[in-house]
Amino acid sequence: MNRLAGASAVITGGASGIGRATAELFLEHGANVVVGDLNEEQGTVFLNEMAARGYSDRTTFLRCDVSDEADIKALVETCVKSFGHLNIMFNNAGIEGAFGAITEIDADHWDRTFAINTRGVFLGIKHAARIMIGQNEGGSIINTASLAGLTSGSGALVYSASKAAVIRLGQSAALELGNHGIRVNTICPGVVFTPLMHRGKPDRADAVMRSSQPLPFRGEPEHIAHAALYLASTESAFVSGICLTVDGGLLTAGPLADTPMVNPPQDRAGMMYGTTGQKADVRATEP
Ligand SMILES: NC(=O)c1ccc[n+]([C@@H]2O[C@H](COP(=O)([O-])OP(=O)(O)OC[C@H]3O[C@@H](n4cnc5c(N)ncnc54)[C@H](O)[C@@H]3O)[C@@H](O)[C@H]2O)c1
Repeated sequence: MNRLAGASAVITGGASGIGRATAELFLEHGANVVVGDLNEEQGTVFLNEMAARGYSDRTTFLRCDVSDEADIKALVETCVKSFGHLNIMFNNAGIEGAFGAITEIDADHWDRTFAINTRGVFLGIKHAARIMIGQNEGGSIINTASLAGLTSGSGALVYSASKAAVIRLGQSAALELGNHGIRVNTICPGVVFTPLMHRGKPDRADAVMRSSQPLPFRGEPEHIAHAALYLASTESAFVSGICLTVDGGLLTAGPLADTPMVNPPQDRAGMMYGTTGQKADVRATEP
C-alpha cells in the first residue's frame, strides 16, 4: 500500500467523485495531495474527513477555477511550497456543460464548457510541466477525458468535442515532454457512478448504470482512481501518450447513440455546471 510514498500530487476536481476517490487512494499509498476545486464547501468536507483519518499533514485544499491561469499557477506552487516538489498532476475537473440542439446552443456556453474541460487541462499541463522540467526528475501528468471523446454517441455534442480535444492534447504533450522524463496519459472513463452522473438521484441512476456496459456491475469512482494510481506510479514508467479506457467494455459494445443522454432535448437548451455549486442556466426553446 505504498506505491506513491514520498510523492506529491495535485488533483483538480478532487472534492467530489473520481477526483476525490483518487485523492483518497493516493493518500492511502503514501502521497502528499493538494486538491484544487471550485466547490469550497465540498473541499472543506474532504479536508475534515481526511484529517479524521490521520492525513491532515499530507492534505491541502485550495479553491481554484481550472479555467483561470492564475489559479492553476497558485495550485501547483502550493504543492511545491507545502511538500517540496510536484511529481503527479491529475487534470480531472470537468462539467457536462452546454446542452441542447446544436441550432440552440449559446456560443458563450460552448466557450465556458471548453474553458473548464479543455483549457483547464491545457493550463494544468503547462504549469505542472514548468515545475517538473525545473525539478529535472521527470513526472506523471494524467488527464481525465471521457469515452465521449473517443466516439460520438456517448455524450452531449459540446462535451464530446471538449473531451476529444483533451485526448489529442495529452498525446501531443507526451511527445513534447518525453525527453524531460515527463509522461502524459489520459483516462477515458465510461459511465461512472458519481454526483455528476446521478445528479442527486442515485437510486434512479443505479439500475441504468448497472446495465450500461457489458460488465454486469456499476462503474465506481474507485475503478478510475486505480487507473490513475497505475499511471501515477513507477509501475507505468514506460507508458506515455496513451488513452486508457476504463468503461466495463462499453466502447467495444458500441456507442449509446439513441439514449436520452445523447439525443438533446428539443424543448430546452442551456448549461450545466456539474457539482460546482453553480446554478444551471436553462431556457425553453421552440420544439
Ligand atoms: N462520472 C462519469 O460517468 C464520467 C465519465 C466520463 C468522464 N468523466 C469526467 O471525469 C471527471 C470527474 O467527473 P466526476 O464524475 O467525478 O464529477 P463530479 O461532479 O463528482 O466531480 C467533479 C469535480 O470537479 C469540480 N469542478 C468543476 N468545474 C471546476 C472548475 N472550473 N474548477 C475547479 N473544479 C471544478 C467540481 O466542483 C467537482 O468537485 C470530469 O472531467 C468528467 O467529465 C466522468
